[in-house]
Amino acid sequence: MAPLPYVRVALLVGFSVFLTIVLGFGLPTALSFLARCCGYPDASVTECVVAVYLVFVVYVAMPRLPRGTVKIEGKAVFITGCDSGFGHALAKHLHKKGFIVFAGCLFTEDGDGAKELKEMHSERMKVLQLDVCSEEQVAEAAEFVKANLEDSGKAGLWALVNNAGVSTFGEVEFTSMETYKQVSEVNLWGTIRITKALLPLIRRTKGRVVNLASMYGRMGNALRSPYCISKYGVEAFTDCLRYEMKPWGVKVSLIEPGNFVAATGILSRDLVAATADKLWREAPPVVQEDYGKSHFEQHMALMRSYCGSGQRDVAPVLEDITDAIVSQRPFTRYNPMEPHWWIRMQVMTHLPAAISDRLYF
Ligand SMILES: NC(=O)c1ccc[n+]([C@@H]2O[C@H](COP(=O)([O-])OP(=O)(O)OC[C@H]3O[C@@H](n4cnc5c(N)ncnc54)[C@H](OP(=O)(O)O)[C@@H]3O)[C@@H](O)[C@H]2O)c1
Repeated sequence: MAPLPYVRVALLVGFSVFLTIVLGFGLPTALSFLARCCGYPDASVTECVVAVYLVFVVYVAMPRLPRGTVKIEGKAVFITGCDSGFGHALAKHLHKKGFIVFAGCLFTEDGDGAKELKEMHSERMKVLQLDVCSEEQVAEAAEFVKANLEDSGKAGLWALVNNAGVSTFGEVEFTSMETYKQVSEVNLWGTIRITKALLPLIRRTKGRVVNLASMYGRMGNALRSPYCISKYGVEAFTDCLRYEMKPWGVKVSLIEPGNFVAATGILSRDLVAATADKLWREAPPVVQEDYGKSHFEQHMALMRSYCGSGQRDVAPVLEDITDAIVSQRPFTRYNPMEPHWWIRMQVMTHLPAAISDRLYF
């Protein structure tokens, strides 16, 4: 067998020849044929390049086309992390649309979010205790859902939204192994745990699983390694689950929000202050000495400036999650984010790292 580099070169050359033939000959011929049919002169290669570019621009800028929706009446959805932020807003939004909502809350007894949902006094809003890190609570939640669904669960559950999540920050050398584990325990293992518990009910309806990842599930960033690792994991888990669920008719989607820090409780000033204090206090002496307090303070100031930044309205995220639940043909990935984050994500995922690293770091 030829060594790998030769195979790669052969594939690249083959692909280039293919593109040259298609774009250089096939496309002008097709466009010229179209032009002639409409009574215009033949198209040139330049016109073809412009046409291809226009198709690309239209594809990027095109609003979402209607793809049909499912009937909502009688359908139930389960959402984790409904105490605050996206989860809380989504529970109210889907309830308003007519869904039966199972709202998992971390603090059902004394939390404001759970209290507000309970005070809706609606038969269709079922608030339940759920810490996604607890095997026991997850098993109890699955039992609760079964007991409260029509036909003792035989009719199944339409959708699960894995929303519960935590965030943190800190350079690798300042971040303890404990922190890495804690963040993934909620964001990644929590997502997997509740998904496994509810999948039998979702398979019955050929329903939906919608996982909240992040733009940081697609690209890394300095100071964000614990969060990025957990969200990259969510992306991998969701992709694998999507392939496995295809034969069952269950559709699995990812929501990759950009920066909505200002709109939710994910990174408050208090959390930043407490985390900064912990990071410095627990850093090994050699790290404190080598990095220095002023370098550390500079980074913490950057994180403080991040609080209150980004989009203030959660509507784009709610719309995308709703589309993933109700559309007949939901997308695999949704990117509710500001254009500059979207461009950065495309650059970092499509261009060679030598270029994207130079542009952003
Ligand atoms: N906001 C953003 O900019 C952004 C961007 C990309 C992705 N996301 C993702 O979106 C999801 C929702 O975040 P958010 O911004 O709405 O933040 P949030 O307001 O802090 O909401 C997260 C929710 O998860 C709950 N939670 C935390 N640990 C839990 C556990 N062990 N078990 C069950 N629930 C738990 C929290 O409860 P308490 O409030 O009681 O702690 C809270 O209700 C997260 O997965 C996050 O990573 C957010």
